[in-house]
Amino acid sequence: MTTPNDQAAASQATTRQPSQRSAADPDQDPELTAPAASNVSRGSLELFTRSWQAYRHVVDLDLMEHRALTRALEALLLERGGGAPLGWMADLGCGDLGLLAPILRRLPLAGLIGVDATAAVLPLAAARMEGSPFPCQWIDSDLLDWSEARRAQRESDPPGPGPEPLSLVSCLFALHHLDDSNKQRVLEALRPCLAPDGCLLVADVFRGDGEDRQAYIQRYLQRIASQWQELPAAERQLVGDHLSASDFPAEREQFRQLAAAAGWQSHWLWNGRHGAEALLLLEPSP
Ligand SMILES: C[S@@+](CC[C@H](N)C(=O)[O-])C[C@H]1O[C@@H](n2cnc3c(N)ncnc32)[C@H](O)[C@@H]1O
Repeated sequence: MTTPNDQAAASQATTRQPSQRSAADPDQDPELTAPAASNVSRGSLELFTRSWQAYRHVVDLDLMEHRALTRALEALLLERGGGAPLGWMADLGCGDLGLLAPILRRLPLAGLIGVDATAAVLPLAAARMEGSPFPCQWIDSDLLDWSEARRAQRESDPPGPGPEPLSLVSCLFALHHLDDSNKQRVLEALRPCLAPDGCLLVADVFRGDGEDRQAYIQRYLQRIASQWQELPAAERQLVGDHLSASDFPAEREQFRQLAAAAGWQSHWLWNGRHGAEALLLLEPSP
C-alpha cells in the first residue's frame, strides 16, 4: 500500500533531505572532510564521485563475483515478488543500480526509493529505471541519516500518517564504508521501518572471523595485484587506494551478532569464493 506521503514524494526527481550535505563546494563541507572512519567522508566517496567508471569495470569484469551474487539476489527477490503485490522497497547506497535495475523492473513493487550520498550517480540510476511500472524516488543522502529519519517518522509521537512499512530493503556494497557502531545504528533504525514479513538484503565484503582490518586489506590488495590483471593498472591503483583508506568491513559472525542485537534473524544466502563478498538475508526476529 502507498501512503499519500509516499505518493507525493515519488517522482523521477532527486530529493535532498534537510540533514544533507551541500554539494556546492565539497572542499568546504565539514561532513565530507571528516575522517574516513566516520560515516560519510570525502575520501570514501571519491572513487564514486570521480571514477565511477573504475567501479563499473570491476563489476563488468566480474572481479567481485557480481554475476553469482546477482543470481542469488534475483532468486530471492523473484520468490518474494511471486505472490501478492509488494509495498515499497528502498535500496541504500544504490549507485547506478547497475546490478538491481533489471530485476527490480520485474517486481510488483508499490514504489522504489534509491538513496545514495554521491549525488552524481542518482541520474544514472533514474535512467536505468525509466519507464518502470512503479514510481521511483531518488534521494541524495547518507544512508544512516535517511534510515534514522525514516524511523523517526514511523515512530512519531503522537503518531502521524508516517511512511508505510517497507517490504524490501537492500544495501549492496555500501555498509562497509561505515564503522561498526554506525552499521549497528543502521540496523537498529531499519528494523521498525520494515513490514513484519519484510526483509533486508545486505551484500557486502566481510572480514573473516578473527581477521583484523589490516590483514583483510593486505589480503584484498594481494588479490587485486595477482588476479585483477584485466583491470587497467591505473584503475587497480584507484581501487586499492580507495579500499585501503575507506573500507571497514565487518567480521562475518560479529555482523550477525550486531544484527541479532538490533532485532534481526539472519542467514547467509551466498558466499563468494574469496572469503570476502557475501550476501546476508535479514528478517525481523519474531
Ligand atoms: C560500491 S558502490 C555500490 C553501488 C551499488 N549498490 C552496486 O552494488 O552496484 C557503493 C555506493 O554506496 C554509496 N555510499 C557509500 N557510503 C554511503 C553512505 N554512507 N550513504 C549513502 N551512500 C553511500 C557510494 O556513493 C556508492 O554509490
